Amino acid sequence: MAFEPKEPQKELKYDELRIYSDEELNNYTEEELKNFKIKHDIPLCEELESGPWPSFVADAKRGALHRRKLGQDRLMIHQDVIEDLLGQLELSFKDGEGHWKHGGIVGVFGYGGGVIGRYSDLPEKFPSIAHFHTMRVNQPASKFYNTDYLRTLCDLWEFRGSSMMNMHGSTGDIIFLGTFTEQLEPIFYELTHVLQQDLGGSGSNLRSPSCCIGKARCEWSCYDTQDMCYELTTYYQDELHRPAFPYKFKFKFDGCPNCCVASIARADMSFIGTWRDEIRIDQEAVQAYINGEIAPNGNAHAGKDWGKFDIQKEVIDLCPTKCMWMEDGKLMINNKECTRCMHCINVMPQALWPGKETGVSILLGA
Ligand code: HEM
Ligand code: HEM
Ligand code: SF4
Ligand code: SF4
Repeated sequence: MAFEPKEPQKELKYDELRIYSDEELNNYTEEELKNFKIKHDIPLCEELESGPWPSFVADAKRGALHRRKLGQDRLMIHQDVIEDLLGQLELSFKDGEGHWKHGGIVGVFGYGGGVIGRYSDLPEKFPSIAHFHTMRVNQPASKFYNTDYLRTLCDLWEFRGSSMMNMHGSTGDIIFLGTFTEQLEPIFYELTHVLQQDLGGSGSNLRSPSCCIGKARCEWSCYDTQDMCYELTTYYQDELHRPAFPYKFKFKFDGCPNCCVASIARADMSFIGTWRDEIRIDQEAVQAYINGEIAPNGNAHAGKDWGKFDIQKEVIDLCPTKCMWMEDGKLMINNKECTRCMHCINVMPQALWPGKETGVSILLGA
């Protein structure tokens, strides 16, 4: 039976829940940032800023300056948590070893998962990260949010945590990076009672189920991945929150085989959308691809000249089961041999579609 929440979901209003004013949120200038030095010398970390990619060190410095200007009165854990974090990282680079003490069990009342204990092994030197616990926040299906929700979540984490978060971890959850033990229950209360937001899984439990964007946006989705993800998340609440397995267990819901590799890699139990009838073909559109009237691969390869589209070379020869051929100018498929790999559909999305009799393949085992 489909899960129905006991109370209707409230619409969050950031203006009613916000902790910080706009001035507090935008409290430094780029000029100030340029001249800003954190309290530790971090030449090795700073080298990372010189590369071609955006650096987490640059982002962390912004966070550090922002917290310093907010001031300790407006923050529940140490103002300089990010500065100590960078300081410890610098030392780890120098020493050639990490300075995190692994684990220790911390959590919130009634749950066995969702919080991952972290402690510095140099708490005298870096007191602001003496505790640095990670919290996992269960993402909604396909990660749809509105800004009221996101801003409320960010304010909460700024106030009671390090300000740093990871959107999203490979596990799927939003990861809150670093807080002290005393803050865990207040954060949990705010999340569940105010934001109507649950913690996710960690340790040897069912991990936060995760799904592709599915029918919300993708015409290839062979089943409603969001619905399935939501349903199983609510059905298996006990398994999600109370670790009872010898090891973690993961579901992943994908609407079509495009995500099958990721799904199998991520999950112990993959639900991959598929079809059992025939790939739908629009022969006129096939011709339009052959004549160069439609760009192949949804135009994803634009920007470089790959030469004229060659259906033999780019589609038929790459079919893993060799079940396609041209006959009298028409594309033919022996559907019995097709393994639903999606390659031909990905190359010619305006000519080919998954069939109409759809369902899921369930794969069990890591
Ligand atoms: C000896 C120390 C550590 C070990 C052995 C360790 C190990 C791991 C492993 C195996 C995972 C994957 C878990 C999963 O997704 O199922 C993980 C995830 C994670 N760890 Fe650590 N970790 C350590 C320290 C830290 C520290 C110090 C931080 C933060 C400063 C951290 C932040 C995270 C985050 C955010 C994730 C989730 C990442 C994601 O899902 O993409 N870890 N860790
Ligand atoms: C470049 C190398 C590596 C990368 C990119 C990597 C990445 C990851 C990611 C993304 C996850 C989370 C998967 C998910 O939940 O979706 C994970 C989990 C894990 N990784 Fe790795 N990993 C690497 C190397 C290693 C090595 C060398 C070990 C062990 C010696 C290891 C041990 C683990 C374990 C035990 C977990 C699961 C932890 C748990 O129980 O939650 N990883 N890793
Ligand atoms: S896995 Fe398939 S159905 Fe899901 S978003 Fe990707 S292409 Fe679409
Ligand atoms: S989906 Fe894959 S296996 Fe099936 S016909 Fe297309 S390329 Fe061949």
